[in-house]
This record gives sequence, structure tokens and C-alpha cells, in this order.
Amino acid sequence: MRRTIDWADGAIVIIDQTALPGDYHLLALRTVGELVDAIQRLAVRGAPALGGAGALGVALAARLGGDVRADAELIAAARPTAVNLRWGVERALTKLGQGADAVLAEAQAVLTEDEQLNKSASAHAAGIVLAECPRRPLRLLSHCNAGRLATVGWGSALGVVWHLHERGLVEEVLVDETRPLLQGARLTAWELAQAGVPYRVQPDGAAAAAMARGMVDCVLVGADRIAANGDVANKIGTYGLAIAAAHHGVPFVVVAPSSTVDSSLADGTGVTIEERDARELTEYAGIGITPPGAEVFNPAFDVTPAALITAVVTENGRYVP
Ligand code: MRU
Repeated sequence: MRRTIDWADGAIVIIDQTALPGDYHLLALRTVGELVDAIQRLAVRGAPALGGAGALGVALAARLGGDVRADAELIAAARPTAVNLRWGVERALTKLGQGADAVLAEAQAVLTEDEQLNKSASAHAAGIVLAECPRRPLRLLSHCNAGRLATVGWGSALGVVWHLHERGLVEEVLVDETRPLLQGARLTAWELAQAGVPYRVQPDGAAAAAMARGMVDCVLVGADRIAANGDVANKIGTYGLAIAAAHHGVPFVVVAPSSTVDSSLADGTGVTIEERDARELTEYAGIGITPPGAEVFNPAFDVTPAALITAVVTENGRYVP
């Protein structure tokens, strides 16, 4: 399977996630401006994939010449919540003094490691899910997209599904559609269909009811930033899911590579939450759905307190604050 983000012929090549599932095509990004635009439009998205984008962006900037550090700052600031983006930028910048080829080699290393780290984190998490959830086969609930498309390869939370499905242990995945940009309905459902995993898409508002009906053995989500105490910033709606899961005694497992841990933050109150364009809510497929001039509250992420989380899992195993 091809990587979500890669380097080819002097350009950053991404799978255009704005077009899926209807159309699968690649985009070649040849300037820093094109990369920043692709990040902001969510053509490339998901915290680990953004780590790759940050590192490759610095490699691109170094190759093009100009003020590489200024370009690096533009890339790192393109979206504020996923710490992996700035992490990838900073990691690539450590090689700037050794020239553009060294920066590119470092960015390539970020890509290569990403798939391995996610495989390993999700394998640890699969073990925890099996230990926490007695029922077989498992009924899992997914929010947003934490799959192959959100990483360079394999996936984090959805990576757990791949491990369990290989062993015939998955009955179904309930896929939150993930309003307003539908990463669940468009991307997670597409990945599950490709892998032959049974799934059903549900409106986000159905998740608590599914738990109340006993339809969910475990909730699996990714993370955009994990504070030192284990608080987790992730796609808007994650916090509500965690409250519902705690109320119903459903295990709630977060899976991420350790590059998502931001130990400079004592807890989740310091996470910058991206607020996105009002039109994501006032329009649906280009058609207005609110009264003209409606005000909106459109945070892209929320913070789930560590106390509501059964386990945060990285490639090092269970994260201990
Ligand atoms: O706005 P997005 O689509 O970039 O948000 C992505 C998420 O919230 C994911 O759950 C998170 O990045 C983890 S992906 C492995």
C-alpha cells in the first residue's frame, strides 16, 4: 500500500484526502505555500501524517533555498493542535547545518519510523483491549480517522483494528461520521471497506445510545497532543465519547506514537484548540443550511481528562504520567 505522504522527484506527494472516497488521486506539492494550503484544507491530515508533512516541508524548503527557518515556522504554524507537526519540523531542522540532502534524509527517516512506531503502538493497544474486554468477537467504536490515512502508514487507533482483524477477533466497527468534515464517514469507512472489516457508520450523536444498548465493547481513538499528565487532545467529540464510555463502563483506549506526547504541557488546559471556518457548519456540500449570518462555534478538537481514559498507549506501551 502506498504511503499517505512521501517524497518523489523533488516534491511532496500526498493522497488527496479531500477527494476520498469518491476519487482517489495524488497531489504533488512543490512549494511551501502549496504544502501549507494542503495542511489547512486537510488534504493531508492526522497527527502522525502531519509529523511527516512537517519534516518533508523543511526538506522541501531547504532544497528550494530562501529563508528556510521562516518557511519552517510557516509550516509549523499551519495548524496549531497536533504537536507532531512542529515536532517533525524541528526534527528536520536539526540537520539544516549539514545541507539539504541531510535534511531530506532525516525527513525520510521520520517517514520510515512512523509506520513501525504505529504498528508497535497499536500492537500494545490490541493486547490491552483483549485484556480489558472479555467479549469475542469485539465490537469497537471509532471516532474521526486514526487509520493509515492519518499516519504515514498502518494507523494508530485503526491499527488496533488491523491487528485484531488479522486474528478474526472483530465483529464490527461502529464508525462515528465525525461532523463537520466527515473524516469517519469518508475516510475510516473507506479504509475499513478496503480491508474487508465489517463496519457501520453512525451519526456522532448515536454513540452514547449505542453504548447504552450494549453495542460497544471498547472505544478506540487517536490523539493530536498528549499532555504530561495523560490528558488527550483529539477530534471534537472525543471528550463527549469518553464521558459516555465512563458512564457505561466501556473501556476507552487512546493510541498514538510517542511523538504525540508534549511533556512541556503539565495538563490539557494548555493545548491550543484550532477553530475552523464557520462555513464548515453553515454550509453542507456548498448549500447553506443555517439562517444567513448565523454565528458558529467550530472547535476542531477537544481535551479529554486523563481520569476518563482507560489507557493511553504508545510504542513504549501504556503511557504512565
Ligand atoms: O482534523 P484532523 O482530521 O487532522 O483530526 C485528526 C484527529 O483528530 C485524529 O484522531 C488524530 O490526529 C489522531 S490520527 C492517528
